[in-house]
Amino acid sequence: MSWNVFVTRPIPQPGIDILTDHCSRVDINADDRVLTKEELLREVKGRDGVLCLLTDTIDEEVLNTAQSVGIFANHAVGFNNIDIDAATRLGIMVTNTPGVLTDATADLTWALILATARRIAESDRFTRDGKYKGWGPMLMLGNAVSGTTLGIVGAGRIGTAVAMRSVGFNMRILYTDTVPNETMEKALRGDRVTLEELLGQSDFVTLHVPLLPETTHLIGSRELELMKKTAFLINTCRGPVVNEKALVNALRSETIAGAALDVYENEPELEPGLTEQKNIVLVPHIGSATVTARTKMAVIAAENLIAGLKGDRPPNLVNPEVLEDKKT
Ligand code: GLV
Repeated sequence: MSWNVFVTRPIPQPGIDILTDHCSRVDINADDRVLTKEELLREVKGRDGVLCLLTDTIDEEVLNTAQSVGIFANHAVGFNNIDIDAATRLGIMVTNTPGVLTDATADLTWALILATARRIAESDRFTRDGKYKGWGPMLMLGNAVSGTTLGIVGAGRIGTAVAMRSVGFNMRILYTDTVPNETMEKALRGDRVTLEELLGQSDFVTLHVPLLPETTHLIGSRELELMKKTAFLINTCRGPVVNEKALVNALRSETIAGAALDVYENEPELEPGLTEQKNIVLVPHIGSATVTARTKMAVIAAENLIAGLKGDRPPNLVNPEVLEDKKT
């Protein structure tokens, strides 16, 4: 077909292959970096569709410039980087890639739970630095994970997958969500509690909510104060869900035992003081970073894009109102 599409950054080849099989022109930002606003505005002009990433801010200005673009296919499950209201108003479809990164993100959450409880990053640095002089009865004592309480904030696909993985660790599950979750309650005998109750009782608090106005700074100084002094906070959802300044203060003053972050409030900037804390594990937004998950994300994003271009309903349309508006 004579479709002209733009991909904002190199993605796994199977996704690109789908695009080249269906479109007469596929341009990819060859530099493996986030485009500047000016570059993005220039590149979206005159396209039929755009495959974008969570690091691209698709705001009203970009959407207005993208007059001919019928669909932005986001290569991510989260879509807080796109102004959905403006897209819907302008009749532009937006899609995401749910499901295929659930396992990868749940696995990483567990890697972080274990890493922070058992001081893995700190132990690695210690060993590399030549400080290991022999086994010691008091060397690098960490916290037990087995038999403790896991608090899941947000019991969607990823939160549930994290809870399922706790079975081998014989943990008590607490969760908080706007709606009850059957797997949590029946399969895991978890209890749905308020956020305050969860914070007060959990040994590990793990965040799995989408970034919305009501989840921004969901965890701030008040919430950190409510946590046990021996508890750990894990964030693999979106950085602004945690007030990073408050977290630095809580770690400094040992209000909580530690934390592990995959996401940051102002990525890729880190809040001053964060890297100075020994009791925190920091990784660079790698929740979905497995070859399997990223390949599936590329394929799904490309399939959504092609479906939209064909005039079909894309499988993962996040603003279905756009089609309702078109009907009327
Ligand atoms: C990753 O953060 C995603 O939203 O896909």
